Formats: sequence, structure tokens, C-alpha cells
Amino acid sequence: MSETPASAPESAESAATTAPAATDTATAGNTAEERAPRTEDGTARPITPGTQAAEGTYRRQTVSFVRRGTRLQGKRQKAWDEHSAHLAVDVPRHIADTSVHPEYVFDAAAEFGRTAPVVVEIGSGLGDAVIHAAMENPDKDFLAVEVYTPGLAQTIQKIVANNITNVRVVQANAPEVLSSMLPAGSVSEVWVFFPDPWHKTKHNKRRMVKDAFAPLVARVLEPGGTWRLATDWSAYAEQMLEVGNASEDFTNIYDGERTGAESPLTEARLSGVDCEQSDEADEAGGWAPRFDGRVLTSFEGKAHKAGRVIFDLAFRKN
Ligand SMILES: C[S@@+](CC[C@H](N)C(=O)[O-])C[C@H]1O[C@@H](n2cnc3c(N)ncnc32)[C@H](O)[C@@H]1O
Repeated sequence: MSETPASAPESAESAATTAPAATDTATAGNTAEERAPRTEDGTARPITPGTQAAEGTYRRQTVSFVRRGTRLQGKRQKAWDEHSAHLAVDVPRHIADTSVHPEYVFDAAAEFGRTAPVVVEIGSGLGDAVIHAAMENPDKDFLAVEVYTPGLAQTIQKIVANNITNVRVVQANAPEVLSSMLPAGSVSEVWVFFPDPWHKTKHNKRRMVKDAFAPLVARVLEPGGTWRLATDWSAYAEQMLEVGNASEDFTNIYDGERTGAESPLTEARLSGVDCEQSDEADEAGGWAPRFDGRVLTSFEGKAHKAGRVIFDLAFRKN
């Protein structure tokens, strides 16, 4: 894999895009391993650090990330050492150190010590969006799902610095979190903001938001729950719109809205910023207004600087 996603975390330590980490500081403890369900002969299933990154697959599906910068230093290491035991969900692993054992089920009420609406952010990066949202919404609980160790450590730093009690982080491959770790119908919102675009045609298959992803999101959402997405890549935005519109599990909350000159797709086409320049107006629309609860992250800031257009989408679980 030679491509580092254009919007990869800028704080990534020297990117090791091909070599999997031999040992991940985040999973060095063996508590979760001890709790891992046993195979028939009584042995724990082997946890092989980095196999997902090395093979690039999860159950024959290409994963949407490459493992970079798993090492922690300084304040991030200190934050992880002191606080991950209670702020990072201790997940029994399966075939890799970012995997989730298929028999493990997350208990939000036990974790947060209360019953409240749960919001899940997939690919939470450095944690800016989830931290902001958690502070604005103390009546909700938030789960930040991320594979990038320094991003998780930085999120933990922010949780601690702001005395936040309603956020937990989990280091795991998102499709596994959605397919088995979270109980069905247990989540009020799923957020996927600026997922890695994998914009070269040969890498498109690595995109997280594709047809197979919609049923996973639908599985965890309660009826009437909301799936929110944002991206700064027009082709990925069109793919997200197609995926959501084609799914029988979802209704586009903004179906037919923001057409013509009001459509972000029209704007992207006119500028030709990331697609062939054209004056063909988008007459279909279907784009959401900017979600009020989505704070401007450094990723989005970079997109603005590059002149890219921001697309928001929102689907309601039927
Ligand atoms: C471009 S960044 C955006 C971060 C953040 N949402 C923001 O807007 O600032 C995408 C993030 O998704 C994470 N990611 C990619 N694939 C993932 C997966 N399968 N499971 C969990 N996180 C993933 C990456 O590690 C990266 O931090």
C-alpha cells in the first residue's frame, strides 16, 4: 500500500504504512486476552498483532485503514498509562489487535453507569468532534471508535483535561464494532465524519462507506436513529448518497434538498476542485445542511484551505 489517505491525521508520527506494529502499546496488557472466549480445545484464540494491516482484510473484506504510528510518547503515553484502564473499552481480540472477538458484547449501561442515548463516532481521529459533542450534550453517552493509537491517546487527554464523564474510546476496526460488539438497536446516532477518501480508483475498494456497510450501521441504530456523514471528496459524497438512498433500512432525511446552485455537488463541479470541471447542475440533491453538532476539525480546516467542498448527509433508520 503506497497511498496514505490525503486526510490522514496530521499528527501521525512517521507513517509506517506497510509494516504492522510488532507490539501495540494499547493492547500490551493481557486482561482482555485472558477474558477472550476459548476455542473448543480450551485454548485462547491467537491474537496476532497487525495481521489486519498486513493482510489488509477482515473476513475477506478489505479494511479501510493502514496501521500507522502506533507508538506513544510523552504526554500521550502518560495519559494512556494513567487513564486507558477506565476510559478505553477493554476488548477481547480475535485475529488482530484491532479486531473484536465476535462473542464480545459492549454493555453501555455498565460502562457509563447509567442508561442514556448512545452516540457512536466512527473514525474519531484526534477526538475533537466527540469531545465537543460530549461537552454540549451531558445527557448523552459517546463511544469514539478509532484504530489510530495516538488519536485515541489524544482523545483521552482531552477527556481528562475537561473532566468529561460521558465518553469512552475503543481501539477497533469499525465494521466489527458494528457487526457484533454493539447490541442491535442500542445506539441513537452513528457519525462518520471525513472517513479516509481512498480517492484513487484502484483504492476505492478500501472505502468504509459502501453497500456492505449500511446494514451494519442499521443493525446498531434504534428505529428512528440517525446516521450522519460528512466528507470533502465529491466522488465519495456521491457514493455515500447512493449507499444511503439504496438501503431499505434508511430514509434520506433531506431527500431532494439542496439542488442546482444550492448543491455542494454543483459547487464542486463548477470549481473542478476534485472532479472534472463542468457546469452540469446537480438536480437530484439529497444533501443535508451542516450538522450543528459537528465542530470544525483540523481535517475539515485543511479541506477548506485546499478549496474543497464539504458535503453533509443524514439518514433516518426506518
Ligand atoms: C480522515 S480521518 C478523520 C478523523 C475525524 N473524523 C475528523 O473529522 O477529524 C479518518 C479516521 O478514520 C480512522 N479509521 C479508518 N478506518 C477505520 C476503521 N475501519 N475503524 C476505525 N477507525 C478507522 C482513521 O484511523 C482516521 O483517524
